[in-house]
Amino acid sequence: MKNVLVISGHTDLQHDSFNNKIIMADLEKALPEAHFEYLDAMYPNFKIDVKKEQEQLVWADVIVLQFPIFWYSMPSLLARWMEQTFEHGLSHGSKGKALVGKKLLLSFTVGAPEDMYREGGFQLYPVEMMTTRFIQTAHLCSLDYEGAVYTCGLGYANRDDVEACKAMESAAHEHAQRVINRIEELAK
Ligand SMILES: Cc1cc2nc3c(=O)[nH]c(=O)nc-3n(C[C@H](O)[C@H](O)[C@H](O)COP(=O)(O)O)c2cc1C
Repeated sequence: MKNVLVISGHTDLQHDSFNNKIIMADLEKALPEAHFEYLDAMYPNFKIDVKKEQEQLVWADVIVLQFPIFWYSMPSLLARWMEQTFEHGLSHGSKGKALVGKKLLLSFTVGAPEDMYREGGFQLYPVEMMTTRFIQTAHLCSLDYEGAVYTCGLGYANRDDVEACKAMESAAHEHAQRVINRIEELAK
């Protein structure tokens, strides 16, 4: 198996996640050889260990970003990780070749239902619009963008509703299985 790095970008997985927590637990169970990083536990003060994170990126063949959509994008902690770890001269620029040919897979959860995410709909644009910054980043860094596994309708408000929680739980497990399948394909 190739080197797989899974980065959890939730800002508070332990205390403020329902879905990403389930997904990460399933991934850990199914992929014992992969390396898992929990940014919220490692960097609660947003002080990223840049050298260590860059070493992890260099080590990885497959990079998986696992996160909830916050404000139509990745959470601030994951954005901070990327701002600091992807550095000119390492990941991009004429001498920045460290990420060339590595595979980037997105895995994210979305609060609103998918039918709201359409051209002119309540959320104005399709879900795929939220992936464009990652596609641009992958292009700049010569990473192979391997697409996104996502699940909509995993809303924050549902957490007080027992039936909705049951549905979210099975959707989160199903999401995790799709991610595991993709990682297994990419890491062959
Ligand atoms: C600060 C914040 C911002 C959010 N922004 C969005 C958003 O822009 N679009 C959306 O569909 N859901 C949004 N949500 C809902 C989250 O995407 C949803 O709660 C999350 O994916 C569920 O995963 P979790 O249970 O692991 O936290 C937001 C939630 C929070 C707390």
